[in-house]
Amino acid sequence: MPDFGSLFSINANNMKASTIRELLKLTQKPDIISFAGGLPAPEVFPVEDLRAAANVIFDTKAKQALQYGTTEGDDGLREELIKFEQKQGVELKKENLLVVSASQQALDIVAKLFLDPGDYVIAGRPTYLGALQAIQSYSAKVLGIPFSEAQDGFDMDALRKRHAEAVAGGKKIKYIYVIPDFQNPAGFCWSLEKRKALLEFAYETGLPILEDSPYREIRFLGEAIPSIYQLDQRGANKGVVINLKTFSKILVPGARMGWIMADPAVISKCVVAKQAMDLCTNVFTQMWIAEYMRTGKLDAVIRSTRELYKVKRNHMVEALERYMPKRADIRWTRPEGGLFLWLTLPESIDTDRLLLKAIEKKVAFVAGSGFYADEPEHNSMRMNFSYPSLEQIEEGVKRLGLAVKEAIDESERR
Ligand SMILES: Cc1ncc(COP(=O)(O)O)c(C=O)c1O
Repeated sequence: MPDFGSLFSINANNMKASTIRELLKLTQKPDIISFAGGLPAPEVFPVEDLRAAANVIFDTKAKQALQYGTTEGDDGLREELIKFEQKQGVELKKENLLVVSASQQALDIVAKLFLDPGDYVIAGRPTYLGALQAIQSYSAKVLGIPFSEAQDGFDMDALRKRHAEAVAGGKKIKYIYVIPDFQNPAGFCWSLEKRKALLEFAYETGLPILEDSPYREIRFLGEAIPSIYQLDQRGANKGVVINLKTFSKILVPGARMGWIMADPAVISKCVVAKQAMDLCTNVFTQMWIAEYMRTGKLDAVIRSTRELYKVKRNHMVEALERYMPKRADIRWTRPEGGLFLWLTLPESIDTDRLLLKAIEKKVAFVAGSGFYADEPEHNSMRMNFSYPSLEQIEEGVKRLGLAVKEAIDESERR
């Protein structure tokens, strides 16, 4: 094995293998009930309709689909995306759109565009691990902002305070990263007031907002709240919001297909950044997804996804009520959408250690500590409800309840 350690770049040396993704491998053994992954439910993948759409492409446009394409994305797909967004009240032109190899690539593109080593990104405590990895891979850091007690967005006083201190201390902040709809990991959803307040803060400070919305369409309870991108469009339209969307949670993640919506000047920069990564997004897949969208069946898939996740989420919440020890310091979120809920345990319980005990009982979750860029909280965990079956949810929560009870008994004996 060659020793390239001293030759790797500073950025490469700052890239961290995700301990969570490493641990996930452990939890994928067949006899373990896993709440650890973030996989959508394969039951709702429209396999036959996708097969038919792929056949249409092979039968009618094969040569074009197998050729290089433009970096901006396939025209047919961008037309479908414009219609899709229009139905949700978002007005777009093609120059506001860049097709990407799903949101993770978009997170990398934005980080590449804005971040120099030592720069800062404002992000929630906790936040999506993949965004942290993208930021760290450009040798940048995160200024973590706690959420409000009501879990309806950032604690805005803390945001202002931390921002002012950072600026006074000479830190260079480049953008604000948020997931306002059913955040990964905790399932929090930002209120309209908090979205507006963050937009005002962005206008005041001149900072862009990177709004990551993979779960936006997966709302199974309550009313949709305008995205921050939409609020900007409806108001001052200053173009400070970069909005990321993906097919991963509304159709199939294996397509690796998503889109960025932003001001044309930002899109042009993103195009150049993307060119160095992969020239263009997979052309066949773009044409295939566009063909599928033209059938008009995507809305029905999204509806059945919402219905299924609502049933699974309710089942998990009810199982937690049944099997978790009843104490005021054991709480969980009741998300109105998305794929995850967030369980908080007594402060004496370290969920990194609890995971080992849980794995012995053949149940797994993701310990919360991995979702913090700094000073992690150790007594929380993320639980996925989209992938396991109802029976697995029931049995897995039962095993987890037992593991939690044992851990509490042990900590009280200590
Ligand atoms: C908040 C968030 N952003 C981005 C992604 C990446 O999604 P993809 O690259 O599949 O679009 C995920 C995946 O789980 C996520 O939770």
